Amino acid sequence: MNKTWLITGAFGCIGAWAVRLIHERGDRVVGFDFGENDRRVTDLVGPEAVRDIEWIRGDVTSPSDIREALESTGANHVVHLAGLQVPFCAADPIRGAEVNVVGTLRVFEAVRDVGLPRVAYASSAAVFGPQSSEIVPDELALCDPTTLYGAYKVANESCASVFAKDYGIASAGLRPLTVFGVGRDQGLTSGPSRAIKAAVVGQEFHVPFQGSTDFLLARDCAAAFLAAAEDGPPEARIYNLHGESAEVRTMLDLIEAEIPESQGMLTCGGESLPLPGELDGRAFRADFPDVEFTSLSSGVAETARAFKSLHRESRLSLHDLEEGA
Ligand SMILES: NC(=O)c1ccc[n+]([C@@H]2O[C@H](COP(=O)([O-])OP(=O)(O)OC[C@H]3O[C@@H](n4cnc5c(N)ncnc54)[C@H](O)[C@@H]3O)[C@@H](O)[C@H]2O)c1
Repeated sequence: MNKTWLITGAFGCIGAWAVRLIHERGDRVVGFDFGENDRRVTDLVGPEAVRDIEWIRGDVTSPSDIREALESTGANHVVHLAGLQVPFCAADPIRGAEVNVVGTLRVFEAVRDVGLPRVAYASSAAVFGPQSSEIVPDELALCDPTTLYGAYKVANESCASVFAKDYGIASAGLRPLTVFGVGRDQGLTSGPSRAIKAAVVGQEFHVPFQGSTDFLLARDCAAAFLAAAEDGPPEARIYNLHGESAEVRTMLDLIEAEIPESQGMLTCGGESLPLPGELDGRAFRADFPDVEFTSLSSGVAETARAFKSLHRESRLSLHDLEEGA
């Protein structure tokens, strides 16, 4: 069957990676986003190939935009990534709920209305609160979010379960933690990716948190969403995504080893993240054994190479390294 993918939030970090992976496979991809800046996709697929990609400018909170996008494109696979991250939800809780909760309901309704059987959507490890370092939560662990963003994601998971029960819509809600890589330039856990970029351009950088976190390469994260949108159990499932758990300082040491000129220029400090330091990701790996997970050291090396190459081509955006970014 001909595959057409609709990716909401396609201008975002994970969305841009999803667009790239689908483009590489040769499937048709339609990016849906209300933003105007396609820099992440351009960085990842290149300024020429980006012209092959179809775009729909739309808002997931609109009553009709998503349904019309599905109808007009005939998309048969849907990955819902559009959302506002932790700081944006904290700054505007009502808008945060409109985008992250109402927007997700709009996507589920549209999927139901056009008769598609399943959807993959972004939940988050922010459904958990801070846990003691011995606890590596699986999907049965208590959700106890300490941010509105996390509370919205819990609501989405509950709504997905009701959509399966009431309308037979299968879904996979994936919970990444610290996604890193090219394109990761905003949000609570973007510091490590920005540190790699700073090292490439010879700037000092401070990551404003420390302790252990679960690092997941953005490309692997996108691949997980595509696998879960394509196939999976015919019910509402939730999956933690586990990449590699490490201290932020260890990640910075890997960057300094990869880019020796950055020795002593990268620091971290402050509070630990209000999240577990590691997720139990065995359920996802059991259901989707073909999705590969890159080691942290390889992911850091790959990201540093990609930033260097963009820098050589004078295409590396440095807005996220500016004061106050
Ligand atoms: N990056 C992470 O570490 C991480 C971790 C856990 C969960 N997630 C979740 O994964 C998803 C994607 O994350 P990301 O890092 O790519 O985010 P991002 O902030 O880079 O991108 C989000 C995209 O959504 C778009 N968007 C926002 N509101 C919209 C609206 N109303 N209509 C249409 N588009 C809209 C934005 O323009 C942006 O391009 C989000 O739902 C996020 O909550 C991300």
